[in-house]
This record gives sequence, structure tokens and C-alpha cells, in this order.
Amino acid sequence: MASLPAPPLLFFPLLAVLVAAATLVPSCEAWRPWPNTLNLTAANATAGVPSRALDIGGSKRFEGSSEFVHLRYHMGPVLAANITVHVIWYGTWSRPQKRIIRGFIRSLSDDSVPHPSVAGWWRTVRLYADQTGSNVTAHVSLGSEKNDRLYSLGRSLTRLSVQHVIRAAVSARRRPLPVNPRGGLYLLLTSSDVAVQDFCSGSCGFHYFTFPSIVGYTLPYAWVGNSATRCPGICAYPYAIPEYFLPPGQKKRQPAPAPNGDAGVDGMVSVIGHELAELATNPLANAWYAGADPSFPTEIADLCEGIYGTGGGGAYTGQVTVDGRDGAWYNVNGSGGRRFLVQWVWHPQLNYCFGPNALDQ
Ligand SMILES: *[C@@H]1O[C@H](CO)[C@@H](O)[C@H](O)[C@H]1NC(C)=O
Ligand SMILES: *[C@@H]1O[C@H](CO)[C@@H](O)[C@H](O)[C@H]1NC(C)=O
Ligand SMILES: *[C@@H]1O[C@H](CO)[C@@H](O)[C@H](O)[C@H]1NC(C)=O
Ligand SMILES: *[C@@H]1O[C@H](CO)[C@@H](O)[C@H](O)[C@H]1NC(C)=O
Ligand SMILES: *[C@@H]1O[C@H](CO)[C@@H](O)[C@H](O)[C@H]1NC(C)=O
Repeated sequence: MASLPAPPLLFFPLLAVLVAAATLVPSCEAWRPWPNTLNLTAANATAGVPSRALDIGGSKRFEGSSEFVHLRYHMGPVLAANITVHVIWYGTWSRPQKRIIRGFIRSLSDDSVPHPSVAGWWRTVRLYADQTGSNVTAHVSLGSEKNDRLYSLGRSLTRLSVQHVIRAAVSARRRPLPVNPRGGLYLLLTSSDVAVQDFCSGSCGFHYFTFPSIVGYTLPYAWVGNSATRCPGICAYPYAIPEYFLPPGQKKRQPAPAPNGDAGVDGMVSVIGHELAELATNPLANAWYAGADPSFPTEIADLCEGIYGTGGGGAYTGQVTVDGRDGAWYNVNGSGGRRFLVQWVWHPQLNYCFGPNALDQ
């Protein structure tokens, strides 16, 4: 991933090195939710005006389109069976916070929601199939949940101890999470007071599969952290603005209001979407990715970080909806009238990033 020559998505070389050095345990990263080709003169663009700095010219589509992107299929399975997302709440979570994330997961298969919807966003993920001709499933549901309120492995987790938290959840004496290797996905969510290896410095989330030697089974899982107190400007952008995202002589820009009233958790939603899309299309790190190294794959959501709407790229989110009532930024509707901002994913037929709120479909 670190070496992928995709012009709109070039990473700061320093970050790439940091991650390459730190990632001893293989995993699939979610980087910051916007690309690192930050051109400070383009900072205004996030306020809604595409900047000249983002104009790459020609007839090329901007949203991630590039002749350098070679997304390839590597013969492994995609998640074709009905997906059940089992959630582990690690640390301290409020009921409203849990409701936002549950609402997002439940929206993934809710076709009754008005366009553009979360289920419409998942439709692009469903375009991916494996060599048996099976597509990613349309059916994603919320499974069992487990609370780890007492921080069973402490307030600082490593890549490996994340798997120990999952082991504890599936082997608990009271109400263990079901072991469901066919369609089960395990989503470990850490509260804002928990540090995780490489959190904020290189990633906002990652996914991989558990090792039988630790957990007893090979289970696809993802970790996503609440960045609210550690690095919201990195992992909950645009609901928080990083300090250095400031052209000289300009006033600090106000962050966009979060649609569900919680910047940290509203920011997590896009990272959770990113990880679920990649788990579905590359669950065992041998299906859909670009780049030559399966330890550092560039997957369908990596290609579209920071792109939430038409014209997105660089420092510009792309066109999203700003709600006239409260100013909240979002791009998809969810169940129960909820609104979410979810990054786009790579469309395998169009060969650029795509989402249900695209203006030119
Ligand atoms: C940013 O926006 C302000 C106000 O609209 C404008 O005065 C300024 O020139 C803009 N800066 C850039 C770099 O576009
Ligand atoms: C940033 O964007 C401005 C305005 O388009 C451009 O003049 C400048 O060269 C860009 N800087 C970099 C480092 O790309
Ligand atoms: C998958 O989910 C759908 C919708 O909930 C359901 O109708 C179907 O029976 C499920 N399939 C299996 C194999 O469980
Ligand atoms: C399944 O995948 C194929 C490509 O592999 C695609 O053409 C087709 O539209 C997909 N089906 C659905 C329902 O998305
Ligand atoms: C769905 O989203 C559109 C635009 O993003 C918005 O105009 C509409 O009001 C939303 N519908 C609901 C029910 O929230």
C-alpha cells in the first residue's frame, strides 16, 4: 500500500515509512479519512468550493481515477454468505454512541431508506465477486454484542492484543460472542481513552483475520477507535480540523457539524464503512487489492480515502449534503432518519471511486 503510485492519493513519504516500520503484525490499514496530498492553498475547498489545486485537467475523472490503479483479483473468496457483524465495545461507551453505530450497521441492508442511502453505498461493494462467481452479499446484519467495560487488556492495545480481546469475547463464560466463521465479522471498537498501536500516527482502523493460535479460529475482524480525544482532526475529519490544516494568515476553520451530534463517533462511521467494505472484498487478504505486496495491500476503500462526493480528492471532500436545519454534513441517509457521512469506494466497472450521491449517474 505504501508504495502505490496513485497520483491523487500519494502519501506523505514520512508516514509511509512510519507505517512500513511499525506494521510488524500484518494488517490492512485504514489511513486517515482524507488523502495526504494536502495542498494548503486548497484548504478552502473543504468549505464547499473545489479548488484549482485539485484540477488535474484533461478528460480524466477526478475521483480517484488513475491509469496507475491496477486493482486485481487474487483468487481468494469474498464474503458471499450473509454477514453478521458482532460488536465488541471496549472501554466506556454511552447509549447514544452505541445507537449511532448500530444504526449505521442496520442501515447497510435497509432498502426502504430514501436515496442516497447506506444500502445504496453497499451496492458498489456488492459488485465484487470471486472465482466461484459469488458476489459480496447484500445481507448485512447486526449480530451479538459484547461489552468489555473493564478494559480487560488495559488502556493501551497492540496489534496482537486486539486479537486477545476478541478471544476473550468469543470464549467468555457468560454470553460469549458466537463463533461464526462463515458470515461472522468481529468489530472491535475502542473508546476514546484507549490507545492502540499506530492509532493516529498511521491508522484510524485496520482489518485482518484472527490467528487460530490466539483465538482458536480464523475470523475476519476489524478494529476502529474513537479518535475524539486523540486525533479527531485526523480520524474524524471533517467533524474536526487538524491544527496544521491552516493556510498562513487564515483564521481557523470551523469543523462541520456532525449529523448525529458526536464528532468522534460520526467520524468512526466512515472508518467502519471503509473496513467493512474491505473485509467483504478481501477478507483473507487474498482477494481484491492493488499493489504487489499482500502485507500492504491497497484495497477498494484505501483508493478512495477522503472522497465523499462528486469532485472529491486532495483536500476537498467532494459534494456532500449540508442539512439546512442544523448545518450537518452527510452524504447518505440511514434507517430511522439518521444521516451519515461515508467515504466512497472503488467501482470495479467504472474504475473510479463511486457513491450513491454521485451527481452524474
Ligand atoms: C479562502 O476563502 C476566503 C473567503 O472566502 C478568501 O478570501 C480567500 O482568498 C480564500 N483563500 C484561498 C486560498 O482560496
Ligand atoms: C498548491 O496549489 C496551488 C494553487 O493551485 C499551486 O499554485 C501550488 O503549486 C500547489 N502546491 C503544490 C505543492 O502542489
Ligand atoms: C440471508 O438473509 C436474508 C435476509 O435476511 C434471508 O432471507 C436469508 O434466508 C438469509 N440466508 C441464509 C442462508 O441465512
Ligand atoms: C456481481 O458481480 C458481477 C461482476 O463480477 C457484476 O457484474 C454483477 O453486477 C454483480 N451483481 C450484483 C447484484 O451486484
Ligand atoms: C435523504 O437525503 C437527501 C439528500 O441527501 C435529503 O434531501 C433527504 O431529505 C433525505 N431523506 C431523508 C428521509 O432523510
